[in-house]
Amino acid sequence: MNTLLKCTNSSVIQAAQALLSGDLVAFPTETVYGLGVDALNENAVSRLYSVKNRPKNHPLIVHISSINSLDKWARDIPEFAIQLAENFWPGPMTLVLPRTNLAKNFITGSQDCVGVRVPDQEFTISLLREFESLGGFGVAAPSANRFGKLSPTSASDVVEELGEYLADEDLILDGGICRVGLESTIIDCRQDIPRILRPGAITENMIKEVICGQLASDEVTDNIRVSGLLNAHYSPKAKVFLTGIPTEGEGFIASKGIKTPQGAIRLATPDNNIQFAQLLYSSLRLADKMNLKKVFVVPPTGDGLSAAINDRLTKAAAG
Ligand code: TXA
Ligand code: MG
Repeated sequence: MNTLLKCTNSSVIQAAQALLSGDLVAFPTETVYGLGVDALNENAVSRLYSVKNRPKNHPLIVHISSINSLDKWARDIPEFAIQLAENFWPGPMTLVLPRTNLAKNFITGSQDCVGVRVPDQEFTISLLREFESLGGFGVAAPSANRFGKLSPTSASDVVEELGEYLADEDLILDGGICRVGLESTIIDCRQDIPRILRPGAITENMIKEVICGQLASDEVTDNIRVSGLLNAHYSPKAKVFLTGIPTEGEGFIASKGIKTPQGAIRLATPDNNIQFAQLLYSSLRLADKMNLKKVFVVPPTGDGLSAAINDRLTKAAAG
């Protein structure tokens, strides 16, 4: 049985040592829980892929403690990427940049670029700092779920998703519920103009404000691999519908102010889009626990965060 530990100063030190020994450590971030591994340890990375049941050509994000470590992993960093990092790190944003020699094929899916992020979670930053002070360079971490499934937003979600696949030495750090609840915004910084590869809590408008310039809005044309780009992803077992009305015993998720149709089971009643994002995955998980066959969601409208929520909803509905 792998070990579940509350985030404390001492568990973070234990976790940093575990990572250096090649063990897997699931940790909280502000977005979703990650399943971390020493980004330089090929054997450990290989075990991570099998625990997640993830195809090897899907790259992993490298998590670092601060912008100061960015140039260890990325080169030819454009000015706009530095501005974005200075403004939004620590925070829910991943930059995809040309890689240095440190970023091996086994974490980049053999692509010439690497995804890097500084997460905004007190204990996880301490973990990354401790790991780096022990000689580590970065922690590669995908979301701590089986491939194609919902990302975990609490430590108990991680136990449910991966508990049976982890080894005795592996650790799960419990840092409570994730504040954002959706995976980071991924920005492709390999060209002159940045492009959003996956929408998240750092929204298009927030990005435009910082770069004072253009943001590519066309579809991704090259074959850069972002697993979230698969049409079906983020899927619960229940079938998700974005139109139509639930009947007796079917699930329903909608903003406060929208009434529950007769006989439907209300799974969440978010007051605003921030809450909608935070509750989305846990309410879809709840539907599965209740063995619901269908969940109807009224997609949110309004501010920038609705783009990220609707992106995940569309993929969940295609699953
Ligand atoms: O919020 C997040 O980003 C969470 C937390 C744990 O940090 N992580 C996460 O990881 O969502 P994952 O592996 O589930 O999704 C990361 C996405 C994948 O779609 C992957 O393809 C993309 O990032 N990615 C990573 N490195 C990349 C690269 N070098 N080029 C293109 N896409 C990359
Ligand atoms: Mg994921």
